[in-house]
Amino acid sequence: MVAPNKEFALAGGLDELKAKGRLVVHGRHRPILVIYDRGRVFALDNRCPHMGFPLERGSVEDGILTCHWHHARFDLASGCTFDLWADDVPTCLVEIRNDEVWVKTTFGHTDPAAHWCHRLADGLAHDLGLVIAKAVHGQLAARVPPHDIVRQVALFGVHNRDGWGVGLTILTALANLLPALPVEEVYLALFHGARRVAEDCDGETPRRERAALASQPDPAALKRWLRRWTNVRHREAAERTLLTAIAAGGSPAVLTDTLLTAETERAFADTGHSLDFINKAFECLDLIGWEHGATLLPTVVGQMVAARGAEESTAWRQPVDLVALCQNTANQLPELLATGRGTHRWSDHPALAQELLGDDPARILDAIKTAIRTGAAPADLGRSLAYGAALRVARFGNANEHGDWEAAHHVFTYANAVHQMLKRIETANTDGRVTGVRGVLHGAMALYLTRYLNVPPARIPGDGGEQLEDLPADAEAIRAALLDAFDRQRQVDLAARLVARHLGLGHSPQALIATLAHAVLREDAGFHAYQMLEAGVRQFTGWGNTSEGRHILIAVTRYLAAHSPTERAALQTADIARRLMLGGELHREAEAP
Ligand code: FES
Repeated sequence: MVAPNKEFALAGGLDELKAKGRLVVHGRHRPILVIYDRGRVFALDNRCPHMGFPLERGSVEDGILTCHWHHARFDLASGCTFDLWADDVPTCLVEIRNDEVWVKTTFGHTDPAAHWCHRLADGLAHDLGLVIAKAVHGQLAARVPPHDIVRQVALFGVHNRDGWGVGLTILTALANLLPALPVEEVYLALFHGARRVAEDCDGETPRRERAALASQPDPAALKRWLRRWTNVRHREAAERTLLTAIAAGGSPAVLTDTLLTAETERAFADTGHSLDFINKAFECLDLIGWEHGATLLPTVVGQMVAARGAEESTAWRQPVDLVALCQNTANQLPELLATGRGTHRWSDHPALAQELLGDDPARILDAIKTAIRTGAAPADLGRSLAYGAALRVARFGNANEHGDWEAAHHVFTYANAVHQMLKRIETANTDGRVTGVRGVLHGAMALYLTRYLNVPPARIPGDGGEQLEDLPADAEAIRAALLDAFDRQRQVDLAARLVARHLGLGHSPQALIATLAHAVLREDAGFHAYQMLEAGVRQFTGWGNTSEGRHILIAVTRYLAAHSPTERAALQTADIARRLMLGGELHREAEAP
């Protein structure tokens, strides 16, 4: 069947093509390269799929087209590449009509969503940033919901690495932030999440599945067993126990209780990362669907059982045995919680946070006990801990070494994870609450140990009621100045003042958060920057535009400003992919005066 002429463009006469060997068809569509080779005619996108170099300048030999920029090679007939990093070049239909060469000017796929889903799988499998970027862009253009893309990437990540890792944490953190992002940033967020999962899986041993037990032990026994296997570092046993709890239909609250109890057998394990990863796995399931629980949740067990607890660290044992103090307090928790239950609605979160920043560990734990006795629920304690940890970051003194930012960061993101998990088990039984609170005690001691970071403390702008009138007043001007500050090194204090100015004038916190997200997404951000942003936004959401909320966003901003700018190489890849997908002639644009 002959297609309608309007879909085709005349490339030229067949004799002319035979004489010249190649022709390029320009128009409102992408430039199309038409090649005559050994009696056959082929038509391809003239822009190299790698970086847009005109393929008309390439060479053809033995049915292979070689781009003359980075020498990627393509099968002329199919457009498939021999060099995976370059991606396949799209081809289009050719018709010879009365010795004229006509080419179809569209490159569409019959099922774009399925095509780009397949390409994403390829990009992830071979860790190809450009292919990943195009596949994410292509799926979004085909109106695939962002959470479906998150699901594809998450499931790739859990199957192709023996354990939860940094990549899946970044993916989940960014997926959590999607509702706060403008549409144009969603592509970038998904690209970063996917590329980091691919990096994380590259060269790794794929995961081997384990099976649940054939029996049906009661949830209390499973919880005890998971503690036991964690203590003796028996991974296989721990995974089978957890799988059995999942197979028994344990609710997210019960599973959180079970895992949090096992995790807090050790204090602040792996500087908080182990608990943070567990929390992120739960959040990932919220995003992609709990039907994937048995596939995804056991991936956190390997790190949990192997993690190094703070009790193995000298700083936690001397000069004060903080582990013994925590244990002593934990022993009192059942009685304290029973006393506090049924008392008035407790709301002294900021005051408790200030107490947690003290310099006497026994008094800090006493403050927690008093809070429980007077009605603070476990999630209230988590909220105070997270706010106290944010204040530690917000007051981080500039005299500290740069690497010390990570000590402040670890406590904050751990505290946020404890808070989120305690909120999740609010409906669990009393026993679960007791064991979960150990995470707060450990977090409080980790916060205590970082007190040196605030000596002397940095001043938090806006706390003295100052108007910061040397800064712009217009909302967009403030946000532009903030991005400008992130463009330069060591602008920690200026960035904090701009955030205080923005919030102090009552400008939109959502717009400010979108700007902070943009500042992170344009960088080759480190793992901690994503964690910091997401934890900060989550904590801010709980407080709103209050003094506490301002402190939290200032903490996030100061951390991000201390780690900006970077080379922005990933942004360049994302931009190349976006322009290629939108039909731009990159090379011609680059050559334009
Ligand atoms: S190989 Fe063609 S632009 Fe790089």
